[in-house]
Amino acid sequence: MPTKIEKDSVTGHMTTGHEWDGLKELNQPLPKWWVYIMYTTVAVSLVWIVLYPSIPGLTGYYHGMLGYSQRTKVDQDVAAVVKQRSAYMDRIKDLSYADIRKDPQLTAIAQTAGRIAFANNCQPCHGAGGGGNLGYPTLAAGSWLWGGTLDDIQQSVTFGIRSGHPDARQSQMPKFSGEGMLKSAEIEQVADWVMALRGAKIGDPASGQKIYAENCAACHGDKGEGKRDIGAPRLSGQVHLNGDSRDAVVAQIVNPRMGSMPNWNTRLDAATIKSVALYVHGLGGGE
Ligand code: HEC
Ligand code: HEC
Repeated sequence: MPTKIEKDSVTGHMTTGHEWDGLKELNQPLPKWWVYIMYTTVAVSLVWIVLYPSIPGLTGYYHGMLGYSQRTKVDQDVAAVVKQRSAYMDRIKDLSYADIRKDPQLTAIAQTAGRIAFANNCQPCHGAGGGGNLGYPTLAAGSWLWGGTLDDIQQSVTFGIRSGHPDARQSQMPKFSGEGMLKSAEIEQVADWVMALRGAKIGDPASGQKIYAENCAACHGDKGEGKRDIGAPRLSGQVHLNGDSRDAVVAQIVNPRMGSMPNWNTRLDAATIKSVALYVHGLGGGE
């Protein structure tokens, strides 16, 4: 219940006028340190309001004298990174492989760009680290179909293989089960010879060898060493594109698989293709 405001005789302070059962409330001033801190924070926030984006409006907001915005800041940072990256990628595009390799920093950037591009685009077919899958060649073993120099790899990747692009790598193994080709007994015999080239001893390789010389050696070489200008795989080695078993060999003779790879020049820019070529070349089989 309010009573009148008066001076307290003991402390000399004024009372607030509030009284409970004879106890009167003193009007004590706030501590000085508290008051100063409050004035300081008010002053700082006023300066802040003037300098930085603060007061909202109907169509926008007050941008502040410094014109600061976190969004612009992020945009600037991103633009700086993109500019720096594109400067590097331009150099990768323009320089020869030899010159790229002379620059350790550029080589590291190309390797990273190549590794990422490989994981995103190539891994589903060629496997992690280029280990290969049935029908999709290993890129790490040095058992190249078309060639393992940087230029060979760049060519394969840029235009593809049987991709339909006019500059694609192109070749065809005939279907030997067709009219006027090989009888099924001959197919079995030549398959035995292919297995013999691979080191297995089965069936009657001698008659198979003759059939091979007449029908297959032109593409796969006299000793099954393969021919790179037409992408005819080496038959004698231990790394095989379309399967290791005799059944797989027969299947290939009866109905060649003729794998195809897309041309990447419409999906990846020139610098990325060079980066991916450097990465693939470094997987262990590069020439
Ligand atoms: C859709 C599956 C597929 C994808 C994706 C793919 N490839 Fe291929 N690639 C193939 C096939 C199939 C062949 C073998 C074709 C043939 O000659 O029989 C091949 C062959 C190659 C060759 C030639 C190998 C040799 O022995 O000469 C290179 C190099 C190559 N690929 C690199 C790449 C790179 C790099 C990428 C990613 C940018 C890629 N490939 C993506 C399917 C694919
Ligand atoms: C005109 C060239 C040509 C002739 C002739 C030819 N091939 Fe091929 N052969 C190829 C090509 C190109 C490939 C790889 C393409 C593919 O995946 O089908 C291949 C792939 C193969 C493969 C799979 C190799 C692997 O690594 O898995 C076998 C096996 C094979 N040929 C056996 C034969 C036999 C046996 C004959 C003869 C009866 C023969 N080829 C005749 C071009 C030829």
